[in-house]
Amino acid sequence: MKKIMIINWIIATAFILSSCTKKEDVILIGEYGSLTGDDATFGISTNKGIKMAFDEINAKGGIKGKKIKLITEDNQGKNEETAKVVNRLITQDKIVALIGEVASARSMVAAPIAQKYGIPMVSPSSTNPKVTREGDFIFRVCFLDPFQGLVMAKFAYEHLKVKKAAIFRKNGDTYSEGLADVFASEFKKMGGEIVIDIQYQPKDIDFKAQLSEIKAKKPEVIFVPGYYSDAGNIAKQAKQIELKATLLGGDGWDSPKLHEIGQDAINGQYFSNHYTTESTDPIVVEFIKKFKARYNDEVPDGLAALGYDAARVVAEAIERAAEIKPKMIRDEIAKTKDFAGVTGKISINAERNAVKSAVVVQVENEKRKYVTTISP
Ligand code: PHE
Repeated sequence: MKKIMIINWIIATAFILSSCTKKEDVILIGEYGSLTGDDATFGISTNKGIKMAFDEINAKGGIKGKKIKLITEDNQGKNEETAKVVNRLITQDKIVALIGEVASARSMVAAPIAQKYGIPMVSPSSTNPKVTREGDFIFRVCFLDPFQGLVMAKFAYEHLKVKKAAIFRKNGDTYSEGLADVFASEFKKMGGEIVIDIQYQPKDIDFKAQLSEIKAKKPEVIFVPGYYSDAGNIAKQAKQIELKATLLGGDGWDSPKLHEIGQDAINGQYFSNHYTTESTDPIVVEFIKKFKARYNDEVPDGLAALGYDAARVVAEAIERAAEIKPKMIRDEIAKTKDFAGVTGKISINAERNAVKSAVVVQVENEKRKYVTTISP
């Protein structure tokens, strides 16, 4: 009997407490990302970074006396789901700002929706130029693919000193196609030769036919601007057919699962990224320390770092805004200048992009060995 009374009391108290946090008492921020699906580590890592940032801010009292409430939606890495969850965040949950996505293709689905409703959207990590061109409410805190492609072309030509490159791109993918095109044109401009430029299809898991064609052309490097699952499998299968060229990739390789999938074959290969865990910058050191303490000793990847930065840029804009209204938050995000991020200084330019350096890292099992920094 007593037990039932206690339980009733707990339920009643919980009910009262939950109805106390009315919508007006919190700042609702939406996040959409791939928490499941083919590139689930993108969404999971980003979410970890965002949550850590907002928890830190809330622990210090929140913004304007209000706590941030993050509402995270899983789009399963799919375009159709993206439209659905973003519409829901905006029209039902009534968020005042939106964070996401990682993959450029999915940011391209969400951006017109955010723009239509006048909700500021900040992509932590979508690098394709088209994303922020969707409208004046769309921002990003990372560098862009025309720069990233140049970085890897330069790295191949000047650092590795190779003259013959192959390209192996994912057909129809905004990110992969965009990055492949820039790499090709920059590498050729430098005096290099693209000996073959070939594609795979989005659902492919067997890449051996194309890899054999690539092998016949004897490239010294192969540029593989896909995400980590594809890159890992491509590396593994290249090794199986004894294709010895060095593999190069972009930020899409960044995942704790890259080595698990690619195994030995991915070791020694290079990709461009948004930050290095080897940095001695106190901001980076502190971030890694806090992240590891919070997440079971996990080393944060670039996505976690960018999620953390994006969340803090949004929070700072809300802090500066006269009122917590989407349009005012938008205007303040646009004014972001010299924000000290984990991934470098963030200043939002007239195109609503950030101009930042990139690092090139070499895969060594779970580690990424820092090789060089290339500045715009
Ligand atoms: N830049 C990639 C894109 O636009 C996404 C990505 C960013 C993946 C960072 C991994 C790390 O599609």
